[in-house]
Amino acid sequence: MASLVIRNGEIVTASQRYVADILCDDGVIVAIGKHLDVAAGTEEYDASGKFVFPGFIDPHTHVYLPFMGSFACDTYETATIAALCGGTTTLIDFCIPGRDESPLAAIETWRSKAEGNAASDWTWHMAVTRFDDEVERELRQIVASGITSFKVFLAYGGALGVDDKELYGVMKLAAELGVIVTAHCENADMIDALQKRFVSEGKTGPEWHEPSRPTYVEAEGTRHFCTMARLTGAHGYIVHLSCEEALNEAIEAQLQGANVWVETLIQHLLLDNTHAERPDFEGANFVMSPPLREKSNQDALWAGFSKGMVATLGSDHAPFNTEQKKMGKDNFCLIPNGIPSLEDRVRMFYTHGVETGRVDIHRFVDAASTQAAKLFGMFPKKGTIQLGSDADLVVYDKEHRSTISAKTHHMNIDYNPFEGYEVKGRCALVTVRGTVQVRDGEFVGKKGIGKLIKREPTHFG
Ligand code: URP
Ligand code: ZN
Ligand code: ZN
Repeated sequence: MASLVIRNGEIVTASQRYVADILCDDGVIVAIGKHLDVAAGTEEYDASGKFVFPGFIDPHTHVYLPFMGSFACDTYETATIAALCGGTTTLIDFCIPGRDESPLAAIETWRSKAEGNAASDWTWHMAVTRFDDEVERELRQIVASGITSFKVFLAYGGALGVDDKELYGVMKLAAELGVIVTAHCENADMIDALQKRFVSEGKTGPEWHEPSRPTYVEAEGTRHFCTMARLTGAHGYIVHLSCEEALNEAIEAQLQGANVWVETLIQHLLLDNTHAERPDFEGANFVMSPPLREKSNQDALWAGFSKGMVATLGSDHAPFNTEQKKMGKDNFCLIPNGIPSLEDRVRMFYTHGVETGRVDIHRFVDAASTQAAKLFGMFPKKGTIQLGSDADLVVYDKEHRSTISAKTHHMNIDYNPFEGYEVKGRCALVTVRGTVQVRDGEFVGKKGIGKLIKREPTHFG
């Protein structure tokens, strides 16, 4: 592989900021310093006046996703190209077996979708949708192979959700193996009751999705999961936390000694419940779970980054196009849940977080890259810029201005939830293990070079 030197960029990591050259060779960073001498034939890139960030890590995507009677409409090829154009060099996707399916068989299915197609690196959180002796045996094998995080759903009862006995079993096993458990925290039975009530009252439009999953139901799920984390000693990670009430539960549990971390999403920081009220069924494009909330929740989520209460920013990329959304035309409960956002996560976070002064630039890198690498067993291979780390780098031109549109994005979906939003900055250069995959915001690289990253367990209970 040809060597690459990135000169004079302003390197920004979770803890440092300085101007230097970075030399990449054989997929890793081999030198950092001023005026580096390089071998003949090394590609030179001038990053003067630009930031150089570690490749961003999206801790929550759904690329291959059979869900609610449909399939998310990206492939590993389209999703990873879109991710790279937005600066994300590693995805943590979810491998989600059906309740009757073997976890090992599911891994093979997901592998067949990703291998040879992904243009960025990736790994999976292993979803546990049933827990018994057979599943436990397979999970041990899966963890030994380097997939060292689990996922549980407290929502989606009767489909992907687990009951308390199963949840306890998964978390005990996780504590033993040093595996962190990620969780969708909404109480399934309460949602079921509210959905039935609204539908029986003729309240069937997308605007009823949020009221059917109120903030206190998410708060209840969050508290429940944190209690299980305390009981079992497992480390827990609350995915896509959407509101102040649930955040308060997580903070209270942290103060009581639970080892739990919080992820929020760019959608929850910038969009709100009024989007799901848009006429002519456009609101369906903004149906996801937990739902978009009242705007008043956003200040607490933003503050959570600077106060350290919110660890990471994810996308929960789950693209269902407007035709697929029509499955719920007569009943909001049947609208496939999900909003596409993996391409825009980083630049929107930079634009509305760093440029507005709401998020310090180091915390921006930390939340969008470093924390995910640390929590999920990839640090310092990923998530930072240091000698020996993978040469996953993003040269960011902060002066560039553009406007988001479905007409120009790279995701395989016919709408963009941030249509018309202005973006400050563009990924001028993106590398994956030293290979240049993006120049000036466009994919110019090699498809299929992505690798499944083998991860370490992160703690022992
Ligand atoms: O609405 C969402 N979030 N769809 C994807 C599946 C999940 O719950 O994360
Ligand atoms: Zn979820
Ligand atoms: Zn998700």
